[in-house]
Amino acid sequence: MTTLLHPLTADEIGVAVAAVRATGRLGEAAHFSTITLDDTRGLTSRQARVIIVPGPEAALVEATVALATASVVAWIEHPGAVPALGFEEAFNAILALHDHAGFRAALAARGITDLTGLQVDPWPTGNFGLAAEEGRRVARCICYYRDQPEDNGYARPIEGLLIHVDMARGEVLEVVDLGISPLPEDPGRYRPEDHAPARVDLRPVSITQPDGVSFTLEGNELRWQRWSLLVSLDPLEGIVLHDVTYDGRSILRRASVNEMVVPYGDPTPGHNWKNAFDVGEWGLGRMANSLQLGCDCLGEIRYLDAVLADQRGRAITLPNAICIHEEDVGILWKHVDLLTGHVEVRRKRRLVVSSIATVGNYDYGFYWYFHLDGSLELEVKLTGILSTKARSTEHREAFAPPIAPGLAAPVHQHLFCARLDMAIDGPRNEVYELNVDPLPLDDDNPLRNGFAPSATRLDSEQQAQRVTDPSRSRSWRIVNPSVTNALGTPVAFTLLAGPSPTLLAAEGSSIAARAAFATKNLWVTPYTPDQRRAAGDFPNQHPGGAGLPAWTAANRGLVDTEVVVWHTFGVTHIPRPEDWPVMPVETCGFQLIPAGFFDRNPALDVPPPDHCH
Ligand code: NI
Repeated sequence: MTTLLHPLTADEIGVAVAAVRATGRLGEAAHFSTITLDDTRGLTSRQARVIIVPGPEAALVEATVALATASVVAWIEHPGAVPALGFEEAFNAILALHDHAGFRAALAARGITDLTGLQVDPWPTGNFGLAAEEGRRVARCICYYRDQPEDNGYARPIEGLLIHVDMARGEVLEVVDLGISPLPEDPGRYRPEDHAPARVDLRPVSITQPDGVSFTLEGNELRWQRWSLLVSLDPLEGIVLHDVTYDGRSILRRASVNEMVVPYGDPTPGHNWKNAFDVGEWGLGRMANSLQLGCDCLGEIRYLDAVLADQRGRAITLPNAICIHEEDVGILWKHVDLLTGHVEVRRKRRLVVSSIATVGNYDYGFYWYFHLDGSLELEVKLTGILSTKARSTEHREAFAPPIAPGLAAPVHQHLFCARLDMAIDGPRNEVYELNVDPLPLDDDNPLRNGFAPSATRLDSEQQAQRVTDPSRSRSWRIVNPSVTNALGTPVAFTLLAGPSPTLLAAEGSSIAARAAFATKNLWVTPYTPDQRRAAGDFPNQHPGGAGLPAWTAANRGLVDTEVVVWHTFGVTHIPRPEDWPVMPVETCGFQLIPAGFFDRNPALDVPPPDHCH
């Protein structure tokens, strides 16, 4: 496996930062948004991609550094572009609030004069064309109050108060006060001491692998059964899989969750602006947890640390950022021969590559599963705490169901976009849509029982913008037209979507323009090096139209070329009382299953369990 794809080392981050500083083009105020490996195809030496924030205005520089020579080989200015929220800037925004007289007066009007219990959550501001936000890096701050640090902040929203802050300059732009509502009383705690006594009838489950694990991990290169891949953590995308092969045959060049959006459906003032792009506005890798054995992951675990860069360009190591382990998940296949009574059964085991990101109130677990039958899968686990509101006179219950006394949570969606750079048995692939329909009534279908799949090749980018349709068992098949299996049909993998919605915000809304990728479940593009992220590289405060809608306007051809499949999936979340005070995991995801990639079940050689009784 090529070392070109290994994540940047701390030394390389140092080289990249020194090289951009040596240009003399960075001022005192300059800092760094992300420093990542340039994994563009076809490079023959390692390069770093450095996103520089030159000063307090809305502007970015994208520099490319050749690491072997420590030289800057590209310097692209992006005027008006806004980076993902910086941690230091977010902290500055919070400090600015504490010192602001108008804000303190709004709190005092609500009887809050002791600010030690104040919790301020800076949110990305979206883009609603506000003149005061033009050219600035802005956060919208919403506030909560805790009597004790152990309280759940989201239990007690300070309703009606919204503060716009220039994060870069630490300057409060506007304190919006929509009126006073009572603070809900319940502190919404969820620690063990708050819910004693604990159940005592759960006996231990121990997972042991006395002979060790069945995978090997050398650096970031992972091998298990016939699978091989390289795993890394991108500061924005989180887990990235590179060069996924099975038995030496290529399947994916690169796979990641390249963008996601959480749009809220409550049209009332104070909540109608809410949406968050948790990849491009925050970063699933930057927000990744250090995972804990026995808690986040159970069994024989190997961890991967991640090396990221902070705002000053210093390398920081995030320990245990990615968890790798095997899980038994029931049966893989079975049959009882009723004539002879003979039983054959195989256990299903999967390799799990996972990471968990905490983005404000929500926690997202990303689990890539590799199976013994040559299929793979992404499951996202959604947990954490709902974004809440206190009931006010403006309250409209249909849009924000009650979840606790005096407390409600707006309906919302979580829509993730997976970017799948496909390479089924080689780089040149095509995508077909399969639909299963009843046959028309005619002489060939006398009993009207007939139904059959039909496959339509998606020949162009416009034709390849599709939505799911479970009633027709719709799926998408990625085919290599030049390679056939033993049965003479082209090798393929099928993308099986889950029961996923698309974006519910209406056409013409700010969010529909900004998150256009979420209006379709499927997009396909020809591979283009700088087309990385579904809403564009810099979605924060972007007015919309970037990324997939812009690229696919060219309506490029998709026949026998290097295709990238973009799959949007997720859930519409109608809050329940059971989601409070912390949500049990809800899941969504998709599968990639071989469809003629093999000549028959590739898992016949999995040995029978040796401990059947
Ligand atoms: Ni939710």
